[in-house]
Amino acid sequence: MTITVAIDGPAASGKGTLARRLAAILGIPHLDTGLLYRAVGRRVLDGDGDPADPMAAAQAARALVPADLQRSDLRGPAADSASAAVASVPEVRAALLEFQRQFAAKGAVLDGRDIGTVVLPDAPVKLFVTASLEVRAQRRYRELVARHGVVPDIVIVRADMAARDEADSSRAAAPLRPAETAVILDTSDLSADEALARAEAIVRWKLGADRD
Ligand code: C5P
Repeated sequence: MTITVAIDGPAASGKGTLARRLAAILGIPHLDTGLLYRAVGRRVLDGDGDPADPMAAAQAARALVPADLQRSDLRGPAADSASAAVASVPEVRAALLEFQRQFAAKGAVLDGRDIGTVVLPDAPVKLFVTASLEVRAQRRYRELVARHGVVPDIVIVRADMAARDEADSSRAAAPLRPAETAVILDTSDLSADEALARAEAIVRWKLGADRD
């Protein structure tokens, strides 16, 4: 049986870790689709371009190669805002669509912003993973300290995250929103293990229910 799981949600909601661990449990590949947008943003920055320039962003998306996803500079504030800027360009989204669908063809877990609504509208399991802005800002703060060795200003971290939420939710092209059949999983008060256990139960229930 081909298992396809679509996971969407805002930044630092816990969806990435959840998607990776869920894919391992189910024995299927995982694609973090945010990396595609991050890599496109990085390509534009490499050429001293403006990620909000639709022409430059579309050109970078068409030139993307798999090795771009292995770059070590895809995380951090510059890549965050560049990715959100290129993601609002419809031609960028169109250029990345086929790759994502191909990846999912034999079964996979994909996480992003528009997986359940646009990329895989027929996925049998859709989760929308979320958490309060405060909790997400605290998570990102801790990640920046642990992974990047910087001690950022929490006020700026929270403001940057709110700005990216707003850009992702209000854009015309594939805005961030739960798919109609998505199960909402609020991780504000859950550990990563608890969130995973709930997600796995939802997947097994959905797959079982679909067979009946
Ligand atoms: O998930 P992540 O935070 O790495 O995504 C980076 C940015 O890429 C998001 O802020 C969003 O603008 C964009 N994105 C998107 N659609 C996806 C995945 C990511 O628009 N499926």
